[in-house]
Amino acid sequence: MQLTIIPETAPFSTSQRAWLNGFFAGLMGAAAPAPATEAPVIETPWHDPALSLAERMSLADGKAPELRLMAAMGQLDCGQCGYDCLNYSKALSEGAESDIGLCQPGGIATQRMIKQLMAEQSGSAAPKPAVKPAAKPGSNRNNPVIATLRSASRLNGEGSAKDTRQVVIELGDSGLDYIVGDSLGVFAANCPDLVRQIIDRIGADPELAVPLGGRSADNITLQDLFSRHRDINRPTDGLLTLLADAATDDSEAQWLRALFDGTENIEPWDILGVLERCGSARPDPAAFAASLGRLQPRLYSIASSPKAHPGEVHLTVGVVRYARGDRACKGVASTYLADRVTEGGSLSVYIQASHGFRLPDDPDTPVIMIGPGTGIAPFRAFLEERRAIGAKGRNWLLFGDQRSDTDFLYRSEMETYLAEGLLSRLDLAFSRDQAEKVYVQHRLQENATTLWRWLEEGAVIYVCGDASKMAKDVDDALQQIIASEGQRDGKVYLAELAAAQRYLRDVY
Ligand SMILES: Cc1cc2nc3c(=O)[nH]c(=O)nc-3n(C[C@H](O)[C@H](O)[C@H](O)COP(=O)(O)OP(=O)(O)OC[C@H]3O[C@@H](n4cnc5c(N)ncnc54)[C@H](O)[C@@H]3O)c2cc1C
Ligand SMILES: NC(=O)c1ccc[n+]([C@@H]2O[C@H](COP(=O)([O-])OP(=O)(O)OC[C@H]3O[C@@H](n4cnc5c(N)ncnc54)[C@H](OP(=O)(O)O)[C@@H]3O)[C@@H](O)[C@H]2O)c1
Repeated sequence: MQLTIIPETAPFSTSQRAWLNGFFAGLMGAAAPAPATEAPVIETPWHDPALSLAERMSLADGKAPELRLMAAMGQLDCGQCGYDCLNYSKALSEGAESDIGLCQPGGIATQRMIKQLMAEQSGSAAPKPAVKPAAKPGSNRNNPVIATLRSASRLNGEGSAKDTRQVVIELGDSGLDYIVGDSLGVFAANCPDLVRQIIDRIGADPELAVPLGGRSADNITLQDLFSRHRDINRPTDGLLTLLADAATDDSEAQWLRALFDGTENIEPWDILGVLERCGSARPDPAAFAASLGRLQPRLYSIASSPKAHPGEVHLTVGVVRYARGDRACKGVASTYLADRVTEGGSLSVYIQASHGFRLPDDPDTPVIMIGPGTGIAPFRAFLEERRAIGAKGRNWLLFGDQRSDTDFLYRSEMETYLAEGLLSRLDLAFSRDQAEKVYVQHRLQENATTLWRWLEEGAVIYVCGDASKMAKDVDDALQQIIASEGQRDGKVYLAELAAAQRYLRDVY
């Protein structure tokens, strides 16, 4: 008989509870299955943003259609699509959602895989779309509200290679409320220069009336459609096919088909680049407009506590600017907030509730916050919140960025918190202050004994920021520290922490 040690009410899945019961029973020498030596069974093993699409699909091989669809998603549970990964997959699979291009982190690779899986699934009749209950205004992407931009001031000092903004938004009578750990969804507009260049390239009239699409029967001008409603950066498969059919030059048509079938890498190409490369392709403007994806809202971790800044939301926005060949390119939403919305201007926004990235209920619980770069955002909110409620739990922040003299975001606030004792520890990793790179995980390793002690004392670990490299490297460092300091299998220990909501990540 299996001994029951973990109560039914504990926040574990059935398989995790079974594994933990077996594990603890083994430790206690009870008549129970031998203690497991592997991590708790995770029913969705592909749900890890560090895995490649091919690895995820292979892990989901043979599973139910909605689970295979889930494996195709970006695995961030970021909510940008309006769901988490599993619920977006279920909505597609059940026919409640028809837009296959909503997964922003997964990009075109995800979209293509979804298309393939949906085609495989199309034999089975899709159930009728579920009727969704009406949501509170501003509580999801389908119900945005209007707020006001107060400022978007630079957080980096003169001479920095980075442009990170402290964006302050006034909620006014929008009715929005939030708790720390939530994100703000922002509907941005494309850069007018890019809109104009694309309209020029396809030789269209900016005033041409075109359908808005979706559930709306309205017509709007091509210029408005491209400004606010369509993704004019990422080429869709529909666009590539349209251009290939329109191209009068054979080599251009062939190249477009190679982009479509994946024999040519699409990553370096945006829509303007494709149009410039294929001058013979003059598509019908209305068909061109219809082939574009929807412009998706962008999420930003909220960097303020409503207790410290009533009626406001603060964000920490890294402005995305880069070059494609000779051409300067801009991230849509980050440059919209930084450059194009004037102070006092309106913003269409909503709150994306966090998927568990929350302060512990017990204010005495110690927390370890690892947040390089813009990853500091939710931790500024956590610190403001803990200060406002007089929480006694210890707070340890690990922050890093390029250079200490220009990139120490919120420096004076953090130094004040350290002096006041709100921050028990502040460890900094400025990667470019010296020849060798120093990252937050190096600071973790230097403080391995202390970190292990905090963990054994019940601390919750939070990680926020870059998903592509930092989150994986921090995870590896934590595993090594747990193995060396605690003589425990780091992977198993972190899985237990995650199952107990004590290892929480908000990465993008
Ligand atoms: C839950 C969550 C919380 C987030 N919190 C924050 C936050 O607090 N602060 C923050 O700044 N961001 C945050 N983000 C990221 C944010 O949502 C946006 O993705 C980010 O601001 C970029 O959006 P954009 O519209 O400016 O850029 P986009 O128009 O989306 O452009 C970005 C794209 O440009 C391309 N690109 C970028 N750099 C290069 C390059 N060097 N070469 C070639 N192509 C390139 C890539 O295709 C990239 O995907 C968060 C994301 C999530 C999911
Ligand atoms: N989806 C998007 O479009 C989008 C938009 C904006 C940002 N982001 C992501 O969000 C991240 C946050 O951007 P940010 O400007 O705030 O900060 P960042 O680029 O993550 O940089 C913050 C600090 O982390 C360091 N770092 C680099 N690689 C690391 C690693 N493997 N482990 C630990 N630290 C590492 C950087 O050092 P060095 O730079 O000196 O190496 C820098 O000191 C970006 O890296 C980017 O991937 C994504």
